Amino acid sequence: MISLIHPLLFLLPSLTEAASLQPIPRQAPPGIPIPPRQDPWYTAPPDWEYRQPGEVLRIRRAPGNLTSAFNASETFNILYRSTDTNYRPAWAVTTLFIPKSGNHSALLSYQIPYNTPDVNASPSYAFYSTPSTQGLVYTDIVGALSRGWYVNVPDHEGPLASFLCLVQEGHATLDSIRAVKNQFQGWQLSNNTKIALWGYSGGSIASEWAAELQVQYAPELKIDGAALGGLAPNFTAALANVYNGSYFAALIPAALYGLASQHPFVKQYLASELKTTGPYNATTFNSILNLDILSAFNFFANQTMTNYFRSGVEFFSNPTYLDIVARDTNMGTHGVPQMPLFVYKAIQDEITVIADSDAIVERYCTDRVIILYERNTVGGHLAEETNGDARAFEWLAQVLSGTLEQRGCTVRNVSLNVTDSLL
Ligand SMILES: *[C@@H]1O[C@H](CO)[C@@H](O)[C@H](O)[C@H]1NC(C)=O
Ligand SMILES: *[C@@H]1O[C@H](CO)[C@@H](O)[C@H](O)[C@H]1NC(C)=O
Ligand SMILES: *[C@@H]1O[C@H](CO)[C@@H](O)[C@H](O)[C@H]1NC(C)=O
Ligand SMILES: *[C@@H]1O[C@H](CO)[C@@H](O)[C@H](O)[C@H]1NC(C)=O
Ligand SMILES: *[C@@H]1O[C@H](CO)[C@@H](O)[C@H](O)[C@H]1NC(C)=O
Ligand SMILES: *[C@@H]1O[C@H](CO)[C@@H](O)[C@H](O)[C@H]1NC(C)=O
Ligand SMILES: *[C@@H]1O[C@H](CO)[C@@H](O)[C@H](O)[C@H]1NC(C)=O
Ligand SMILES: *[C@@H]1O[C@H](CO)[C@@H](O)[C@H](O)[C@H]1NC(C)=O
Ligand SMILES: *[C@@H]1O[C@H](CO)[C@@H](O)[C@H](O)[C@H]1NC(C)=O
Ligand SMILES: *[C@@H]1O[C@H](CO)[C@@H](O)[C@H](O)[C@H]1NC(C)=O
Repeated sequence: MISLIHPLLFLLPSLTEAASLQPIPRQAPPGIPIPPRQDPWYTAPPDWEYRQPGEVLRIRRAPGNLTSAFNASETFNILYRSTDTNYRPAWAVTTLFIPKSGNHSALLSYQIPYNTPDVNASPSYAFYSTPSTQGLVYTDIVGALSRGWYVNVPDHEGPLASFLCLVQEGHATLDSIRAVKNQFQGWQLSNNTKIALWGYSGGSIASEWAAELQVQYAPELKIDGAALGGLAPNFTAALANVYNGSYFAALIPAALYGLASQHPFVKQYLASELKTTGPYNATTFNSILNLDILSAFNFFANQTMTNYFRSGVEFFSNPTYLDIVARDTNMGTHGVPQMPLFVYKAIQDEITVIADSDAIVERYCTDRVIILYERNTVGGHLAEETNGDARAFEWLAQVLSGTLEQRGCTVRNVSLNVTDSLL
C-alpha cells in the first residue's frame, strides 16, 4: 500500500535539500500542469553542472491526474543531470510511473517518438493532452504498468528539444535510468531489477543511442535488453527520402531545428538559407517550432521542402552540415550495444530503407551482439508500430522476467498484418 506521504520524502533528505536550494519563483497551483517553456520547475538549481550525470536535481509528483489514465499508483517528474551532444553538462526531465502492484523486478525505459523541436511537446507535458494523437504510445505504457513494470519515460530531447542530437538523446536516456535508480534503489527498486529499453522510430533512435553509448558513458549500468522498432540508422539517407512529396516532410524542419539547437553551424547555415519571401518562407518553415509531430506531418505533408532554401536541393550537400549529421545521427559510430536486441522493421518502410537496418544488424552480429531481427513483409513505417507491438511486448516480457533464451543472431522475414497500411 502506498501511504499518503510518500516514503521518498523521508528517505531522501538530500533531495528536499537540493530542491530547497532553489527558490521557485512561481509555484504551479497544485494539480495544474504548465507547459515546460513556462513552468519554472523546468530549470536546474544552482551549481547543477557540478553534479554527477544521473544525479537527481529536482523531484515532484507529476501535476494533474495521470494515475487513473495510465493505471499507475503514482507518477513523478524527476529533473536530473546529464551531458549534451557536445559532451558539456546538461540536464533533462523524466516521468516515472509506478505500477499499482508488482514485485519491483522490472523497469521499462520507454522512449516516445516526439520528433519535434517544440519543447512543449515533451512527453512529461504532452501526457496531459495528446492521448488521441499518439494512441499506441499510451496503450504501451498502460500495458507495461498493468504487467507490474515500472515505466520510465524521459524527455530524451532535453530542455532544448534537440531532436536528432543523438549523443544527447542517448545520454539523457541513460541518465534518466541512473536518476530513477539513484532515487528508488533500496526502497522500491533493487540491484536485481531488470531494465529494458523500448522505442519505435524517433524512440528507437534514442533507445539505440543509449544502447550503443552505454559501454562508454554508463558502464556501471546493466541493461538487460532493448527493443528497437522502425529503426532509422542513417538520417542522411532518411532526410533524402522524405524531403519531396512525402507525408513525413516535416522531419526536415524538425531535424534542422533539432540539430541547430546544439550545433551553431547548423543554426547559422539554416538562417542563411531560408527564404524570407514567397510562399515557401522562413515564417512557414518555422511553424515546426510550435507543432507536435503529428500536427507537423499534416502541416508539411507532400511539400517539396527544398523550396524553402535559397540553394534548393544543394542545401543538403554542404560538407560541414553533412559531417554534423553523420557524426550525431549515424548509428553504430559510438559503441556496440552490450545487451540483447529485438529489432523490427517493415521491409517497405518509407522513411529509411530496409537495407540500412540490414547493414547495421549485420555489423552488430559480426560484433557478437545477440539480436533477433524481424523484417515484416506487410505495411509501412507507421503500420509497423502497430504490427510489431505485440511481438515487442512478448520479447520485453522475457527480458524483464529473466527468461530470455536468445543466442546469436537471427534474421527472419515475418508477415504480421494487424494493418497493411503503406504509411
Ligand atoms: C483522476 O481522474 C479519475 C477519472 O479519470 C477520477 O476518478 C479520480 O478521482 C481523479 N483523481 C483525482 C485525485 O483527481
Ligand atoms: C492495473 O495494473 C495492475 C498491476 O499494476 C494490474 O494488476 C491490473 O489488472 C491493472 N488494471 C487494469 C484495468 O488493467
Ligand atoms: C547495488 O549496486 C551498487 C552499485 O553497484 C552498490 O554500491 C550497492 O552496494 C548494491 N546494493 C546491494 C544491496 O547490493
Ligand atoms: C548514409 O546514407 C547516405 C545517403 O544515402 C550515404 O551517402 C552514406 O554513405 C550512408 N552512411 C552509412 C554509414 O551507410
Ligand atoms: C520532387 O518530385 C517531383 C515529382 O516527382 C519532381 O518533379 C521534382 O523534380 C522533385 N523536386 C526535387 C527538388 O527533387
Ligand atoms: C509565407 O508563406 C505563407 C504561406 O506558406 C504566406 O501565407 C505568407 O504570406 C508568406 N509570408 C511572406 C512574408 O511572404
Ligand atoms: C498528400 O498526398 C497524398 C497522396 O497523393 C494524398 O492522399 C494526401 O491527401 C495529401 N496530403 C495533403 C495534406 O496534401
Ligand atoms: C516478479 O514477477 C514476474 C512476473 O509476474 C515474475 O516473472 C518474476 O519471477 C517475479 N520476480 C520475483 C523476484 O519474484
Ligand atoms: C526476406 O525478404 C527479402 C526481401 O526484402 C527477400 O529478398 C528474402 O529472400 C526473404 N528471405 C526469406 C528467408 O524469405
Ligand atoms: C492484411 O489483412 C487484410 C484484412 O484481413 C487483408 O485484406 C490484406 O490483404 C492483408 N494484407 C497483406 C499484405 O497480407
